[in-house]
Amino acid sequence: MSASDNHKNVYVLNQTNQLKGLFTIIRDRTKPRVSIYLDAELSSDTYSGNDYAVNDTIIRLIVEEGLNHLPVSPAQVTTAQNVKFDGVVFDGRICGVSIMRAGESMEQGLRDCCRSVRIGKILIQRDEESQEPVLHYKKLPEDIADRYVLLLDPMLATGGSAMCAMDVLIGMGCKQEQIIFLNVIASPEGLYNVHQRFPKIRIVTAVVDEGLDSKGYITPGLGDFGDIYFGTK
Ligand code: URA
Repeated sequence: MSASDNHKNVYVLNQTNQLKGLFTIIRDRTKPRVSIYLDAELSSDTYSGNDYAVNDTIIRLIVEEGLNHLPVSPAQVTTAQNVKFDGVVFDGRICGVSIMRAGESMEQGLRDCCRSVRIGKILIQRDEESQEPVLHYKKLPEDIADRYVLLLDPMLATGGSAMCAMDVLIGMGCKQEQIIFLNVIASPEGLYNVHQRFPKIRIVTAVVDEGLDSKGYITPGLGDFGDIYFGTK
């Protein structure tokens, strides 16, 4: 895991074979959706042994990495061996904010790590005429300005929705430094646009793809993440 070569504050997961293997499953258009969910359908034992979907496993890796970006203070405990251990405790409070609908797929991964986490929601849709992203709904913790915000959206294409959501958070008093954007697949265009506008917002993504196609889909990508995750394809 390192900051991307191009942008400070962009962090891309290490491209391990384990991660590539997971992406090989969720990107494969010939895989029936059920095979992303049922161990019995998978070709290898590697991913068996839990009832997580493959995309949930990737999301969990991203959430774990996002949590690494929260501030900590030193904390010492005494182990059962009666020996001191120098550890850390997390400082400050967090919340999640999912950009509906696809961002909701990342809520469970966050809850699995932080059981009682508060999760707000933002709905943004493109105006049909202007093609500009428009805020339709928001429900956020009232004290969000006092929290670190893990902003959830799996696909960073042009960055229009993400930047609209970031505007909402900043309008509620959040500082850029408090926001960590968690993402599954990013396009170089989206990373560039978000980073230009909000250079202090940290972006944690699993992979950076080649670019966007003429319809604004990420390529090679995987299609519509929300449709795949929620089975509405
Ligand atoms: N949203 C998706 O679900 N897929 C893309 O490729 C781009 C945006």
